[in-house]
Amino acid sequence: MPAGFDLLNLPADFVPRAYDYFKAARAASPACPNSDGSFVLTRYDDIVQVYRDPGLWSSDKQAAFKPKFGDSPLFEHHTTSLVFRDAPDHTRIRKLFQHAFTRKALAALESRIEALVDEYLDRLEDQGGMEIVGEFSFKLPVEVVCDMLGVPAGDRILIRDWALLILGALEPTITDRQFQEGCRAVEDFKAYLREQMALRRRNPAARREGEILSDLMDAEEDGARLTELELLHQCIFLLNAGHETSTNMLSHGVHEFLRNPGEIRRLIDAPALIDSAVEEVLRYQAPIQINNRRALAPANVGGAAIPAGATVHLMLGAANRDPAQFPDPDRFDIARRPNRHLSFGLGVHICAGNALARLEAKIAFQKLFDRFPGLTLAAPPVLASRIRFREVTELKVSL
Ligand code: HEM
Repeated sequence: MPAGFDLLNLPADFVPRAYDYFKAARAASPACPNSDGSFVLTRYDDIVQVYRDPGLWSSDKQAAFKPKFGDSPLFEHHTTSLVFRDAPDHTRIRKLFQHAFTRKALAALESRIEALVDEYLDRLEDQGGMEIVGEFSFKLPVEVVCDMLGVPAGDRILIRDWALLILGALEPTITDRQFQEGCRAVEDFKAYLREQMALRRRNPAARREGEILSDLMDAEEDGARLTELELLHQCIFLLNAGHETSTNMLSHGVHEFLRNPGEIRRLIDAPALIDSAVEEVLRYQAPIQINNRRALAPANVGGAAIPAGATVHLMLGAANRDPAQFPDPDRFDIARRPNRHLSFGLGVHICAGNALARLEAKIAFQKLFDRFPGLTLAAPPVLASRIRFREVTELKVSL
């Protein structure tokens, strides 16, 4: 196993052996250099240090994305959404939809999540088996996040393809076709949201109390807080971020439980373990594997010198298996405590939807294994060859 890896020239077996590569890189150096002058960080403490210092480590992607995306719709999207911006713009935008994720707002979603999970499990029972990704773990988060934003039920199928094309363009290397399709997806998504906004302006009764789209429209009308482009790109980002990651959390979770049937029995015997079980699923297979930051001044990470302007890739899947933080890190242990994994990031950009994702996982795993403790894998899962998002594309189970 080579000691480091170059994100721009990954070996063919990287995805199935990612954790072996992380282990070798973690042992070799605090910062493994890439062929484009960027660095890969794999140690837990170093990654925490970077997250905690947004004044030194910028999230702004203008410099990094210009050569990759030029003046394209993908550039516009990925440099306008709040996740890739710094204070004060980041702070201003984040405040605008913070209230959609309060405890009270989430409590109102709980019964809807329960009803959706029950519906999918009824289908699983009727069919005697299921392809989990398409029929369960994609559907649940997409329904919930579209409810929150205000996307009508009939249009939800559009969101998945757009999300895959837009987020897929964030992979370390992309083809010209992926670039073109990503740009078209951004334009189609914007046109779709503009129609939704026009509908609400023509007919205020189409606005639903508490929906994020209407709230952001109010902020746009108050021009000082949000421009139209900012509004569109926050909605696109929320709709994408709100389901793709959660889908993978649910698919990986079902898979890890089925690979470890002893942990299903443990959960059934001690249902109070559900909270730590959700954290362990998140730690064990981080749905987002890479976050990035750019050094605004010369920096030192774990003893390695990082020049001003260099990008660092924070490998969350590697940090989550760092033995200095997690004893016996390759063991899937649903009672693990403490479990301060980094799957939601940390610091000012910490995932705004983390409580929602946790709630979805809790209800999904609890209900699934309560009802079907003998669920088994019908075939090995299929993993996508993506690096930034650790994605299961197919997971067949049977009763
Ligand atoms: C298991 C599911 C999820 C995972 C693993 C995840 C992971 C992450 C991570 C790692 C970040 C930090 C990015 C950075 O610092 O560069 C982030 C940011 C964010 N996530 Fe999530 N996320 C999940 C679900 C959700 C959901 C359900 C929503 C909303 C409905 C959401 C909305 C956001 C937003 C708005 C940000 C940007 C926060 C900011 O920049 O201030 N996420 N997420």
